[in-house]
Amino acid sequence: MEKVTLRVFRGDIHGGHMVSYEVPVQPSMVVLDAIHYIQQHIDPTLACRWNCKAAKCGSCSAEIDGKPRLMCKTRVDQFPSGVITVGPMRTFPLIKDLVTDVSWNYRVAAKIPPLQPKPEVAGKPFRMQQADVDRIQEFRKCIECFLCQDVCHILREHNRQDAFFGPRQMVRIAALDMHPMDNLNRREQLVGEAGVGMCNITKCCTEVCPEHIHITDNAIIPLKERVADDYFDPVTRILRRIGVIQHEQKQPMSSVPQSTTQIMSKSPRPGK
Ligand code: SF4
Ligand code: SF4
Ligand code: FES
Repeated sequence: MEKVTLRVFRGDIHGGHMVSYEVPVQPSMVVLDAIHYIQQHIDPTLACRWNCKAAKCGSCSAEIDGKPRLMCKTRVDQFPSGVITVGPMRTFPLIKDLVTDVSWNYRVAAKIPPLQPKPEVAGKPFRMQQADVDRIQEFRKCIECFLCQDVCHILREHNRQDAFFGPRQMVRIAALDMHPMDNLNRREQLVGEAGVGMCNITKCCTEVCPEHIHITDNAIIPLKERVADDYFDPVTRILRRIGVIQHEQKQPMSSVPQSTTQIMSKSPRPGK
C-alpha cells in the first residue's frame, strides 16, 4: 500500500463534515503518524490531542472506523481497503476536529475519596499479601484514555452522566475498595451516585481498553457482588441481624471531610 485515504472529521460545536486526505504510507505507520503528516504537509489547522506516541498517556483517543481506539496504537496497514475514517469520541462535548472535552471524567473522579488508611496502619509502610497487590495492580494500569467511557452505552446513547460514573471510575473505585488497607465504606456511593446497578455487563468497555484491563470481570462484577451482599441478599441480611456474620467495620463515606477536589466536582458539565 503506497497511499492511504484518511477521512477525518473537521468541525466544532457548530457543525462539521468529513474531509479526505491522501497520505503516503511509511513502514509501521500508525494513524497518529498520518494525522501528523496532514498537519505538517496539508492543513496545519487540523486539531488533535496527543503526547507520548507510545500508548501510555491516553491523549490520542479517537473513533477509528467507528471503534474507539488510540491513534498511536492503530497501524495503518490493518485497513486493507486503504480508506480510514477518523472522528472524535462521540460521548464527550466536541471542542475542535478530533479534540473533545473530557473534563467531566475528572470532575467525577474528584467525587471519589482517595485511600483512607486504617488507623492502625496510617503513616506506616503497608504490608500486604502478594495476591492483594496483584489484584489491584491491574487497575493501576489505567492510562485514562476514556475509550471505555466513550463506548459505554449508558453514557453514549442514554446520556446518563447524572446516574453513572462510567467504567473508568468503576475501575478506580475497585482499586480502592479492594485495597486491604482502605478503611472507607464505599458501597453507599457505589449504589448511589456512582450507579453501579446501571451497568448491564455488556463488556463493550473491556473490549476497547488498550491496557487490557478486565473492567467488567475483575472490577464491575465483584463490585456488584459486594453491593448485592450488603444490600440485597436476604440470607446475608438475616445472618447479620442475628449476629452470625458481622458488618465490615469501615468508616462511613459521610465522615470524609469535603476536600478542594470535591468542591471542584460541583462545577457544571459543559453541554454536548
Ligand atoms: S459493561 Fe457496563 S460499564 Fe462496560 S460498557 Fe457495558 S454497561 Fe458500560
Ligand atoms: S480502563 Fe482502560 S479504556 Fe478505560 S480509561 Fe483506563 S485504560 Fe482507558
Ligand atoms: S499519544 Fe499517548 S496514548 Fe497516544
